[in-house]
This record gives sequence, C-alpha cells and structure tokens, in this order.
Amino acid sequence: MQLVTDHHSHIIPGIDDGSRNMEMSLGMIKQLKRQGIERIAATPHFYSHREPGGISAYLDRRNEAYYSLLAQAPAIKDIRIGSEVAIEKGISELDGIEQLAISGTNLILMELPYAPYADWMGEEIYNLYCTYDLMPIIAHLDRYTEWYGKNDIEKVLSLDAVFQFNAEAFDHFETRRFVSKLIKKGISYCFGTDTHNLSDRKPNFDSITRREKPGSGLIEKSDSIMDEFALSEKPLF
Ligand SMILES: [Fe+2]
Repeated sequence: MQLVTDHHSHIIPGIDDGSRNMEMSLGMIKQLKRQGIERIAATPHFYSHREPGGISAYLDRRNEAYYSLLAQAPAIKDIRIGSEVAIEKGISELDGIEQLAISGTNLILMELPYAPYADWMGEEIYNLYCTYDLMPIIAHLDRYTEWYGKNDIEKVLSLDAVFQFNAEAFDHFETRRFVSKLIKKGISYCFGTDTHNLSDRKPNFDSITRREKPGSGLIEKSDSIMDEFALSEKPLF
C-alpha cells in the first residue's frame, strides 16, 4: 500500500541535533500527521568520526530511543528507523554499515559533505551499492547548489541512487526550479522534511502540498520509493 511518506526526519529524541525530548518528538509527529504524512523514515545523523564505539554503540543508543518513542503510541504508526549517514572517506568499508539502512528496505540515506564535490564521494556511494546491494538516497540535493557547479551536479546525478529533496526547496523560486528541472529529467527521487524541531526546522511537508497540483503524481512518485525497494522478509525493527 502506498503511503504519503516523509523520507528524512530527525524525530528520534536525544540522539542528534534533532528532537531534544519525547514531548518534542510526539509534537513533531502530530504536526506531520496534520500535514498528511502517513509514514516516516526516522533518520538521526551518523558521523563515523564522532562514534568511538562504532556502529554497534550508535545502534544501541538509537534503537533504545526509537523503541521508547514507539511505546508512547505516536500519532503515526509506521515509523521506519534508519540513519542519515555522513559520507566520509572509508565509510563504505565500515563494519556493519549495512545496518544503517531504513528498516524494511535496502535504502540508505547518505549525506554528502558541505564542500566542493570530489570523486571519492561518488566512489564511496558506488562501493556501498556494489558491496551490500544498498540503494543510496542522496540527502537534500537542493542544499548543494551553492557548493556544486553544473558538472558536479551532473556527476552526482550519474550515480545509481535516489535523490531526496527537502520540502523547503519548494519555498524558494531558485530551488523549486532546480528540483522541478531534475524531476522532469526523469530521475528517481523522494521528498522529506528533514525536520529537526518545532521551531526553526519544524515539520513543513505542506510546503510541497501547498504548491503541488493534485493529481500531478509528483508526491505519489516519491511515495512509491519505499515500496519499490522493500525487502521481501519482515523488517528487523
Ligand atoms: Fe537531516
């Protein structure tokens, strides 16, 4: 069943610079529900260089907070756990990296550095794809227009990946044009709010629905991604 999906969010309490506590998390989820969201990928940041205990320590922390959130009966039931994995040198060889995929899918959300594009970044993404059969979702491509030239964008687009756009891109003429140009090219894409809190980065899926003509299929195509890359066996989490 196709569900309106937020593919990128920081709603797990106390794990990263997103939701600070349970109350905030439940409030964010309530707002997302009001905006029509039926399924959320919860994707707290993972920075390999900040995790001395490696992936297993991070997963213990993340999963404990995730299950406590689910135990509070949040307004949206279908919350998949994943991570927003910072692309660092050697990330594709990190032990257990495949466990950071969005539960029930072979999708993994990857965040490019906020720096000029370099070929090693694409190589890390390609290695992940080849080694683990993981389909990378490149996070908020709309946020890199100030770092990347046309050629860099072309290089990123040539990667076998799904490209995620933040809802905020629809609020500004330039980024909206950038996103719609790429969508018209026929790329594989999905939308997310990347919400971090209830103030300056609050849930804003309505930035898309306010502008999107009903029936154009733009949101529906985004919503099909999780089903397209669903694992056939039961999710681990
Ligand atoms: Fe994010």
